[in-house]
This record gives sequence, C-alpha cells and structure tokens, in this order.
Amino acid sequence: MELTTLNDVANAMVADGKGILAADESTGTIGKRFDQIDLESTVENRNAYRNLLFSANDIENYISGVIMYDETFRQSSLDGNVLYPQYLSDKGIIPGIKVDMGAHNLSGTEGEKITEGLDGLNQRLNEYRKLGARFAKWRAVIVISEENPSGYAIATNAHALARYASLCQSNDIVPIVEPEILMDGTHDIDDSFVVTEEVLHSVFFELYSQGVHFEEMVLKPNMVLSGYECSSQASVDEVANATIECFMRTVPAAVPGIAFLSGGQSDQHATAHLNRMNQLLENNKPWKLSFSYGRALQQSAIKAWGGSEQNIVNAQGALLHRAKLNSLATTGDYSEDME
Ligand code: 13P
Repeated sequence: MELTTLNDVANAMVADGKGILAADESTGTIGKRFDQIDLESTVENRNAYRNLLFSANDIENYISGVIMYDETFRQSSLDGNVLYPQYLSDKGIIPGIKVDMGAHNLSGTEGEKITEGLDGLNQRLNEYRKLGARFAKWRAVIVISEENPSGYAIATNAHALARYASLCQSNDIVPIVEPEILMDGTHDIDDSFVVTEEVLHSVFFELYSQGVHFEEMVLKPNMVLSGYECSSQASVDEVANATIECFMRTVPAAVPGIAFLSGGQSDQHATAHLNRMNQLLENNKPWKLSFSYGRALQQSAIKAWGGSEQNIVNAQGALLHRAKLNSLATTGDYSEDME
C-alpha cells in the first residue's frame, strides 16, 4: 500500500493483526539488557542484536513498524550492508525513530521527571525524514506515589509532548505520543485509573491547543494496572475493563490507533490484556487497539540469544512467537493455550 499521507502512515501502523516493535533502547538501556545475559555492550554487539530482530523471517506479517534509536537508524544489515531504514522499508516495515533525549529530574518537584529534547528538534526531524523515518516517538514519564504526580509535572510533560507532536507533523512525520505512567509503586488499579485519566485529559488538551491533528498520530499509553508492589493485583478482566473505560473518556475517536507499551508486564499479561480489550470492544472500536512493545516482545528472544551466534535462529523463533500472539491479540483471537 502506498503511504502518502500521515493518516495513511498512522493507519498502517495499527492495521489489524499488526503492531510496533519498540527496539529503540538507548545505549544505556540496551546495556542493562545485555548485562542480564553477560554480554558487553559494544557497537558491534548492539548491531548484531538489532540485525537478529529485524532479519527474522516473516516478522513483517506481524510487525507494522520498528522504532529505532539514533545509532541503529544509521547502522546497516549484516547481510547486504543496507541501512536499516531502507532494509525495513524493503520488507514492508515502516521505519521509526526515537527523538526524545530521555526523562530527567524536573526541578522543583519531589522525584518527578521531564522529558528533554525539544531544542534543535525541528532540524533533527528534518534530517530523519530525509533518511527515511515515517514516524517518531517521544516518551514522557509520570510517577505515582503518596505525593505524586503533581499538576506541574503533568502539565509540563503534556506541553512538551504536544510541542514534539506538532513539530513531527510539520516535518511529515507521524508522532507516537507516549505518556507513560510507571507501574513502580504500591498504588492500586483505581489510583492508576485516576492518574491515567487526568494525564490523558491534559495531553489531549495540549495537543488540541497546539494544533496537532488527531488523525495523524498514534497514542502509546500504559494500560490501567495495579502497581508492581500493590498487594492486590487486578485480574485480566479488571485491567481490560478499566483501561477501556478510561480511554473512552479521554481519547478522541479521530485518533486512528492506540498502541500500548508493555511497561514491565510479563509477556503473557501484555498479550492477554490487549486480547481481552479487543474482545470486549469487538466491532465498537473508536480506535484500533494494538501494541508497541519493547520488553514484552524482546525479553524471551534476548534470553534465547545470549549473545551467541549459534542461538540466532532460536532467538528469532522466540521473537516471532511473541509477535504472532500479540498479532492475534489485536483482533481478540489469542488464547492462553497458544502459549
Ligand atoms: P516497553 O514495552 O518495554 O515498556 O517499551 C516500550 C517503549 O518504547 C518504552 O518507551
């Protein structure tokens, strides 16, 4: 399909049966993932790993787009030496780029974060578009605790997300707008609901105020979940119902799709939650409900790989298995026995 307009690109990113592979870990974050398999984080090892992911046979049947980090975006496939944006496009996968500069301490708050990277962003987007990027990602981080989040942290992060999104669209790039409320903490699912609702209202108010076209974006939010350390963990049905109720209240129907982040959920939970939401909404979906998973797609693959060439096929098998199950979850056709 010809992807001419930003709306075409956004629709293709969340097409039925497809979702996004978030492989945009910064050098620091991929280093932590490599630590878990005792592998040194060198430029070559990072390229070998991303090459393993992108070259998996038939991955394009389940994955619509890949988000890359700047280093990966400028690297090439090991077989054929083709720059990854071109390599992925040739496979029918849309190339995307992480453009934020990470979440940093927000002065004047108790442990809250603000995402940096607006300075010079217009020029960077212009270059990425020329290099083949069709969409971008910016992640804002919101923390729940006794005191937090503050109205200040919510408003400044929403403002920055909207500034970024507006700049993306003016550079012919679809923005993935990612406000992530972390699972860290003892909060329960009701607290997660209240905060997610407030944050999404604030984000869409800012997007509207700054003239962002809802038809030309993809939202990448957290699901409404219990905190990691909450003593009562919500069930799959509770998560699916709460998440839908929250998004019905806050996300305009003009937005083509919601591609959830996995945020530290187990692989199986991330799939089961998405699947249940799609079953509950069936044919009454204002937007597509899909995935843009990092850990929930990659963690079994990276473990199977372990940094060793002889394990590449097994690692690709593990990635394809998760990609396929999440693909089925986008239409509510997954079941636990497929695990
Ligand atoms: P997780 O799915 O591991 O949360 O990563 C997605 C992502 O891109 C976070 O910004």
